[in-house]
Amino acid sequence: MADQGELPEGTLENILEQESLKWVFVGGKGGVGKTTCSSILSILLATVRSSVLIISTDPAHNLSDAFQQRFTKTPTLVNGFSNLYAMEVDPTVEHDEMTEGMDSLFSELAGAIPGIDEAMSFAEMLKLVQTMDYSVIVFDTAPTGHTLRLLQFPSVLEKGLAKIMSLKSKFGGLFNQMTRMFGMGDDFGDDAIVGRLEGMKEVIEQVNKQFKDPDMTTFVCVCIPEFLSLYETERLVQELTKFEIDTHNIIINQVLFDDEDVESKLLKARMKMQQKYLDQFYMLYDDFHITKLPLLPEEVTGVDALKAFSRHFKTPYQPLCSSDKVERLEHRVSALKDQLKEAEEELKRVKA
Ligand SMILES: Nc1ncnc2c1ncn2[C@@H]1O[C@H](COP(=O)(O)OP(=O)(O)OP(=O)(O)O)[C@@H](O)[C@H]1O
Ligand SMILES: [Mg+2]
Repeated sequence: MADQGELPEGTLENILEQESLKWVFVGGKGGVGKTTCSSILSILLATVRSSVLIISTDPAHNLSDAFQQRFTKTPTLVNGFSNLYAMEVDPTVEHDEMTEGMDSLFSELAGAIPGIDEAMSFAEMLKLVQTMDYSVIVFDTAPTGHTLRLLQFPSVLEKGLAKIMSLKSKFGGLFNQMTRMFGMGDDFGDDAIVGRLEGMKEVIEQVNKQFKDPDMTTFVCVCIPEFLSLYETERLVQELTKFEIDTHNIIINQVLFDDEDVESKLLKARMKMQQKYLDQFYMLYDDFHITKLPLLPEEVTGVDALKAFSRHFKTPYQPLCSSDKVERLEHRVSALKDQLKEAEEELKRVKA
């Protein structure tokens, strides 16, 4: 795109406006800004929704770094908010606690299906979250490969459970005889297991349906304007399409803008390279909302920094040198007005 000034620049306003959304996944390659972007999205959603939960499913949890507050596996109110909660779950460690209550035959069966234990704890977590009645749930996911597996969980479980059920119906009689022979109580009987499976199946089917419903679920891809990230994003979009999960937003983070008259040869070269990939993003994803975020000189940590950065989610970034002084001031005034409005709304909410 030779002249980006002519393009209708994208923002993430569409996510804030889509009132039916229940699940928002934020994902992409390692270190591109997933945690930063999901945290900001949850902060913005908290201004328009009654209650928001942000969940980190990355074992390397960094919501605590972003918000500078400790979080655990139970939803905790984020400091300074009345309707924004955060929790960090680890899909791999909950397993033991969870299967403790199950009989060994069932865990044996479960163990025979790859990925089912992780899928089960993800399902248990979703079940818990479902009952809590949040208006919208944002996922800060782990780097791409892991996330794609996570999204397959409901399908893995549905298939796995069907397999276990069919095994049980085939060998049910034999199994009953055995449990009686070894004098096991009712807890280990047929009905207890079937009941548990049926209960789980319902949640899985419901979640699976919701994840595939573009009114309820969407996936926001975060990337940076570099070759590997472009490549990874394309892979991600294709996989999401395969799983029938909606995606129509791409955030391109860490963009270098020609703000000041840049003298550095290195920076100029990087900008040129970024422009090449930006052009490709716009070409490949012309039906997506593409939001560009500037690379800042400092990290984006703490609620204040996240809030300040959040304005780029709602108004396209304007490089200062591209506009004249009047325009620049107008832009600044409107940004400050936005911030003032937000602060006033929040004050009203906190008072209420
Ligand atoms: N536009 C930006 N300008 C400057 N720093 C940024 C920007 N976006 C993110 N950062 C910083 O870069 C670091 C990595 O960002 P973040 O943690 O959001 O990435 P991530 O994709 O979640 O990483 P990981 O894959 O490790 O979970 C953080 O320290 C964050 O504050
Ligand atoms: Mg992260």
